[in-house]
Amino acid sequence: MKSKGRFGPFGGYYVPEVLIPALEEIEAAFEQFREDPNFLKDLNALYTDYAGRPTPLYHARRFSEEVGFTVYLKREDLLHGGAHKINNTLGQGLLARYMGKTKLIAETGAGQHGLATAIVGALFGMETKIFMGATDVARQNVNVHKMKLLGAEVIPVEGGTGTLKDAINEALRYWTAHVEDTFYLFGTAGGPHPYPTIVRHFQEPIGREARQQCLEKAGRLPDLVTACVGGGSNAIGIFSGFLNDPQVQLVGVEGGGKGLHTTQHCATLCTGTVGVLHGARTYLLQDENGQIRDTECISAGLDYPGVGPEHAYLKETGRARYVSVCDEEVLDTFFLFSRMEGILPALESTHALAWLVRQKGLLPPDTIAIANLSGRGDKDIDIVEHHRPLTARSL
Ligand SMILES: Cc1ncc(COP(=O)(O)O)c(C=O)c1O
Repeated sequence: MKSKGRFGPFGGYYVPEVLIPALEEIEAAFEQFREDPNFLKDLNALYTDYAGRPTPLYHARRFSEEVGFTVYLKREDLLHGGAHKINNTLGQGLLARYMGKTKLIAETGAGQHGLATAIVGALFGMETKIFMGATDVARQNVNVHKMKLLGAEVIPVEGGTGTLKDAINEALRYWTAHVEDTFYLFGTAGGPHPYPTIVRHFQEPIGREARQQCLEKAGRLPDLVTACVGGGSNAIGIFSGFLNDPQVQLVGVEGGGKGLHTTQHCATLCTGTVGVLHGARTYLLQDENGQIRDTECISAGLDYPGVGPEHAYLKETGRARYVSVCDEEVLDTFFLFSRMEGILPALESTHALAWLVRQKGLLPPDTIAIANLSGRGDKDIDIVEHHRPLTARSL
């Protein structure tokens, strides 16, 4: 383990020796190309013409009336693929291409990162394998189907709880044996250095645009910026635009599942302790022996017992605060928001919206909040239907 890639005491790269050269190669390529004019020209063209950047900042008027203060939404749900994940996969995919790699692997939870990787694999003509927990394969079947249509191989991972943690374990295992020709396209701002830095970099346009758009639309900076936190990539993307504005509160919302009084949640920063998982020192959900605890959350994309190390640092320094909301609040908000705004929000993003609903009556009416709408909810309609069938509801 070397001391690079640290956020205070968090981060680093705690990985098997065999992966160190591969990580160093990726780090060197990132440093070489991040400001390279050709790379930037290619990436910006992809962001604009292929993915659909810049995304709008939308004033959600009816939802604002409901909560009693102004809410703007950063519409990452409008990007190609339906989520912010495409920002990162285009960036890393292009990097892999510039490095001359021909094969991609990725892990996925909700399937959005797998889908975004499959899109980029098809776009660049690269052989693509996606590792996905068996539970997630079952609950995010539409995305599995899409990945296969795009030509990716989806590898169900049976071990553990069949969720994101198990998919990452398997992807890392596979990578160890195939480092020569394979680029591991990591999906969130976690894992070993240099991934937290790289993923944050490719998600920074969210925060940069949101800051500028808020100044244009509202004439001032927001009072608070909120986003859901799984591994933390959409949150760090939007937070990054406001880190140097101390008057802007940053609030990350974790999956409270069945409640923090149970063990069925994935609120890592709210309740976790510091340890090492998937190559980084960060907050984790673990027992007193350091064994990783099972997690549970209605939202597959948040169902992970770790978190990106920069969030651990922002928590520790107090620059951001981290809260959680429960599955039932998320479902309530999903219905409320869909009918008020005509947008089906991803269950992940709905966590941030549900926290805003909870602030009703608590924040002054002149408050301006920005929520990162990290993805769209089409992928989640079976889950919502399972928990609250429309036939059983009064329409
Ligand atoms: C729409 C959406 N939002 C958020 C997340 C959580 O990931 P992160 O915390 O890296 O943004 C996911 C993960 O799959 C997702 O699909």
